[in-house]
Amino acid sequence: MNKPPLVTHWPITPPTAGIVAYAAASMRRKLHPSSIPPWPVPFDSSAELDWGNPEYARRLLREHLDQSHDGASRRRTVVAGQVRRLRRLLPSSPARILDAGCGPGLYAVPLAALGYSVTGVDVSEAALRHARGVASRAQLLGKVRFVKGDLRSVALKPDSFDSALLVYFVLEAFPRALQPEVLRRIATALTPDGTLIAELRLRPEQPPGRIDWWDVVPNSLLSDRRHLLLGDAVYDQRRHTYVLREIAIHDDGSVSVQQTSGWLCPFGSIPRLFARAGLPNVTMFDGWTGSAAHALSETVLIVARRRRP
Ligand SMILES: C[S@@+](CC[C@H](N)C(=O)[O-])C[C@H]1O[C@@H](n2cnc3c(N)ncnc32)[C@H](O)[C@@H]1O
Repeated sequence: MNKPPLVTHWPITPPTAGIVAYAAASMRRKLHPSSIPPWPVPFDSSAELDWGNPEYARRLLREHLDQSHDGASRRRTVVAGQVRRLRRLLPSSPARILDAGCGPGLYAVPLAALGYSVTGVDVSEAALRHARGVASRAQLLGKVRFVKGDLRSVALKPDSFDSALLVYFVLEAFPRALQPEVLRRIATALTPDGTLIAELRLRPEQPPGRIDWWDVVPNSLLSDRRHLLLGDAVYDQRRHTYVLREIAIHDDGSVSVQQTSGWLCPFGSIPRLFARAGLPNVTMFDGWTGSAAHALSETVLIVARRRRP
């Protein structure tokens, strides 16, 4: 993604007008540019990225594996360092690990190579297929398996994992009301002294307000053909929401829109969020460092236990 060339800021007042027409047009797949709401609305179901949609999932895999940016997944060199950090936080192998929202298995496969018994769960069939292929070529299919499942509904056997991972801001993509349920579902799959390691973002990489940009691109998450790509991102600090929206306009005039939203749990509320999910014992690190997290941390790595060790 190119750097936004234009930055504007003004008080956030989410729009209401036009959203109904916009949602209806999206469903009919005849979207007119003038019916798109001027401000993206967090978790607007008519525009929110459907991670499991095969077309999006196929294009998203391209972004996951692209080594020129850290858009959907991080670059391999960064992942390698983080796997070393995880090894210090995880129980020793051969512990059973759930990688929730595993994507193309960038963490699951190296952990299996270290002797862990790993189960990756994701909604993206394209990402899972890729992960299985990598594991197969590394002769690790006995140590790692990849299961298609939605973290909002997947049936996880109680007490079946020693540890679970939620890496690269998987949790924030669920609305505030759903986050405790997603955590609870994972927590009950842990053994009584199991740990959940979750990476959370406290704030996006932009100041509060809105930034806009545009570019002509050969392809994007929205399309495989050359198009005009408009982007905007809104960080509402008061509501703790962040929306990144992209709009593709093709030469034939067709338009498509998708966005990803996040609810960013405030620093002081993190222990309560995890406690509500049955994980009352929380240690918070400043990102992937070994230092304690603080209110100015941009990201935090949470190590949450069902009970005191
Ligand atoms: C930012 S990517 C991170 C992938 C992986 N953890 C990594 O760091 O490489 C988010 C992942 O969450 C998955 N995801 C999104 N919503 C999901 C859901 N409801 N259930 C399961 N997986 C989901 C996406 O398909 C995607 O692979």
